[in-house]
Amino acid sequence: MTTTAAPIYGADIYEDQVLLEPYEHYRALRELGPAVWLEQHGAFAVARYAEARAVLMDSDTFRSANGIALNEPANQAILGCTLASDGDLHSQLRKVVAHRLTPRALRPMRELVTERADELVAGLVKRGSFDAVSDLARALPLSIVPDFIGWPQEGREHLLEWAGANFDSFGPMNARAQRAMPKCGEMAAYGAEIVRTGNVLPGSLGAGVLEARDQGEVTTEQCMMLMLDYLAPSLDTTISAVGSAVWLFAQHPDQWDLVRSDPGLIPNAVNEVVRFESPIRAFGRLAENDTEIGGVPIPAGSRILVIYASANRDERKFERADEFDVTRRDAVHQLGFGIGEHGCAGQGLARMETESLLAALARSVTRFRVGTPERALNNLIRAFGALPVTVETGV
Ligand code: HEM
Repeated sequence: MTTTAAPIYGADIYEDQVLLEPYEHYRALRELGPAVWLEQHGAFAVARYAEARAVLMDSDTFRSANGIALNEPANQAILGCTLASDGDLHSQLRKVVAHRLTPRALRPMRELVTERADELVAGLVKRGSFDAVSDLARALPLSIVPDFIGWPQEGREHLLEWAGANFDSFGPMNARAQRAMPKCGEMAAYGAEIVRTGNVLPGSLGAGVLEARDQGEVTTEQCMMLMLDYLAPSLDTTISAVGSAVWLFAQHPDQWDLVRSDPGLIPNAVNEVVRFESPIRAFGRLAENDTEIGGVPIPAGSRILVIYASANRDERKFERADEFDVTRRDAVHQLGFGIGEHGCAGQGLARMETESLLAALARSVTRFRVGTPERALNNLIRAFGALPVTVETGV
């Protein structure tokens, strides 16, 4: 129970049916107001673009420490990691690793990523029919990211399950989050073991983190968190974007024709996929002091839920917001990678992977014919669990 001047929304926006069909709920939230009290979750939803962006840009008022997840155990478990820290600590942690992910630092990776994407797509096109999730969307990030992070070979078989659990744990403490907690514990224990043994690939991001610890830039505990900070968000997110891209281009062959006739559109197409089917639906924040969002009073200590997936469909910002259009100029304003201090540190890599796959597909595939997809329900990630596809190549 709360007394609030904000409009109230009664639905559980984490129940299966809402995860399957979220967009009407997002529309309802946007129409109710700039900040809406989610009765079931004890948080203010920020579902409109302008206010979502403003909250993300004001990290002094809307804090990430203790604020990312909708439940206390998860907030406690990740307290002090890059995602869940503020101010100087956040800058210090981000400095240890993020320089490895700038466009310039990633440039040498492009050849490898392109080569792997080309090989993968060539093999799948030859088969003609495949699963766009397991055979395509998962295959590329799994062949790139664990090596980049330096994760040892042993233990890799758990990565997808652990990373998915990590995102489930950030929702409210529903059955999905409860099931996820032990798996998050396993991932943290494995990260700690890696730091203890120093078992990371030489020259990798993980090796850099260990060096930073040895030089006294971060503590051993921070080092353990940093080991997972970049791994946990690096798989399901990109996998979601690639799966959604195939689905969207199957539904909109005219858009695929545009991409094929002008591959220069691919970077914008990636923005449009992330706008239209945002891989991460929402993250939280905690109000540091009494404040307001779009004129709605927000008391200090309130939990805020910034719904990127709704902001990206806000008709106040995007013309024809529910139309998938790879040529739209405003796609670049999408908030799917976040923005501000906590804006996605790995988006350069995610974009490179997704663009490389689309470029390889555009060279040979004229049409995607999809079978019945299966959604993989997760508290945060919008993705397919399976997407059978047959490709036509025009030869
Ligand atoms: C399509 C793919 C991806 C999407 C949509 C995505 C989305 C996001 C979003 C929305 C945030 C903002 C969190 C916030 O506002 O609190 C974020 C942060 C972050 N992402 Fe990504 N991400 C993607 C891929 C990746 C990859 C591949 C990596 C690592 C290699 C990565 C690493 C991170 C990290 C470390 C943060 C935390 C940044 C901070 O708190 O300073 N992400 N991501």
